[in-house]
Amino acid sequence: MSIINSDILILGSGVAGLSIAIKSAAAMPDKSIIVATKAEESESNTKYAQGGIAAVWDKLDSFEDHVKDTLVAGDFMSDHEVVRMVVEEAPRCMEQLIEWGTDFDQNKEGEIDLGKEGGHSANRILHYKDITGWEVEKTLLEQVEKLKNIQVLPFHFAIDLITDHHIEGKDPKEAISCYGAYILDQKTNKIDTYLSNTVVLATGGIGQVYAATTNPVIATGDGIAMAYRAKAKISEMEFVQFHPTSLYQPGQSPSFLISEAVRGFGAYLRNKAGDRFMLDIDERAELAPRDIVSRAINSELIFTGDPHVYLDCTHLDMPEFKKHFPNIFEKCQSLGINPETQWIPVVPAAHYLMGGIEVDKAGQSSVSNLFACGECSRTGLHGANRLASNSLLEALVYGNNIAEEIINNRSHLGPELIPDIPEWNEEGTMVPRENVLISHNRKTIQNIMTDLVAIVRSNERLEKAIDHLNYLYQDTEKAYEKSKLSPQICELRNLNAVAYLIVSQSMERKENKGAFFSLDNIEVED
Ligand code: FAD
Ligand code: SIN
Repeated sequence: MSIINSDILILGSGVAGLSIAIKSAAAMPDKSIIVATKAEESESNTKYAQGGIAAVWDKLDSFEDHVKDTLVAGDFMSDHEVVRMVVEEAPRCMEQLIEWGTDFDQNKEGEIDLGKEGGHSANRILHYKDITGWEVEKTLLEQVEKLKNIQVLPFHFAIDLITDHHIEGKDPKEAISCYGAYILDQKTNKIDTYLSNTVVLATGGIGQVYAATTNPVIATGDGIAMAYRAKAKISEMEFVQFHPTSLYQPGQSPSFLISEAVRGFGAYLRNKAGDRFMLDIDERAELAPRDIVSRAINSELIFTGDPHVYLDCTHLDMPEFKKHFPNIFEKCQSLGINPETQWIPVVPAAHYLMGGIEVDKAGQSSVSNLFACGECSRTGLHGANRLASNSLLEALVYGNNIAEEIINNRSHLGPELIPDIPEWNEEGTMVPRENVLISHNRKTIQNIMTDLVAIVRSNERLEKAIDHLNYLYQDTEKAYEKSKLSPQICELRNLNAVAYLIVSQSMERKENKGAFFSLDNIEVED
């Protein structure tokens, strides 16, 4: 077991983690930056982003309209100042990405082709085909490669943050600071002590807490759970966004996303009878914000008893469709669905978390020295429901803010300021005899959350969920205490914590807002 020092320790290698690393490394070539990430370096939610990144780019568009659309989609729960800041910074961030080498699609006039998605009153989505995230992740990793003071450590799983709680004799009631993280090297199976005065959680989302999700298997809310255990403030966990159109493929996880940009391109949602049910629900029809469309689909499924609805692309300009959405077209074809002649079966799936680790405009959490960026953070941008394609944007804007804060106010901090930290103690632990107990509990959490804490909630469902989760918590903690740690047991523990936060914070919300809808709040609304 080793002790490893760095000036900046970043956990996670998606858009949030990498953009902070690049900015800080370029401005401070003498500072060492470690990016520890639990899978291959490119594996992240970022890599799977399809639709694109929202920014005011067209001369006819305006900051006012992007601000307004964000506030409306968020059901007026967003922080106005944060929304304005992010929207106004967006074009600069796009210029930065282009400068770094991101190849956004262009139209016939040679200008950037701007797509449209739900809740946007203008075409303002910069994209690369239907694989924007892949293009962005690739660009960022190429930049990282050029900066010699960044060390990326793939297959390094962060287990827990190191805080004052780990220091003997410290009064835990005093203000808490973070000094690094205990990280499991998945190749050597050793847990090393990584020390740093500046720690950034960029660990992404929580989709895997649900059985049906568009998120890859890495999205287990580790950063949020670690921050929660470190006593950081975590809020608005009740706001989980369900994307309306994931491909209906029972038993397949993660679910393949059919981008909202497809509806932006003109596709219709239909039920089995062929009705465009969204027309009766919202004047924006298929392009209403996601919470509205997902709830409408959910009602339709409950009413008809059907397992899915359909996305109809058959009336669209197919040569253009194939150019814009080659990945989606290919995926459908590989399953024997021809979008040219057949409707695509779709269902909502857990997609994004609006809440998370509370941070200020500089990305600082309530724990000193600990920053959070990207999907694991709660900045106030999204309110109760995120506007499409505002997520990559948020990570880029806050990535810049955090880098600036580090460069301007923290670059003087060195490892000599870190107190004595105990190394990880594995005494008395054993390799579990049967990992099936871990995978069983993981599936159980996913089923509890899907059945009881999804698009529609109620007091009764939430109470049942918390009872089940309490039992699983006891069971998991017992296993955790005596097991030699593995990513599997740590993820289980983190999923349990995240599920608990979603349920307990849902219980506190007494008004339906954005993505949060409880049957017991309907009367209060009137
Ligand atoms: P991620 O990109 O998820 O990165 C998290 C990183 O943390 C990963 O590298 C992971 O391995 C690492 N990590 C996690 N836990 C640990 C641990 N314990 N130890 C070490 N490392 C850890 N948003 C948009 O704005 N536009 C879109 O078009 C869009 N499309 C999407 C399509 C799909 C299918 C999905 C799933 C999401 C989409 N989103 C989109 C949302 C957006 O992609 C994410 O919110 C965003 O990429 C999050 O970036 P991030 O850097 O915060 O997290
Ligand atoms: C999509 O392409 O539909 C996803 C966009 C997003 O999550 O913002």
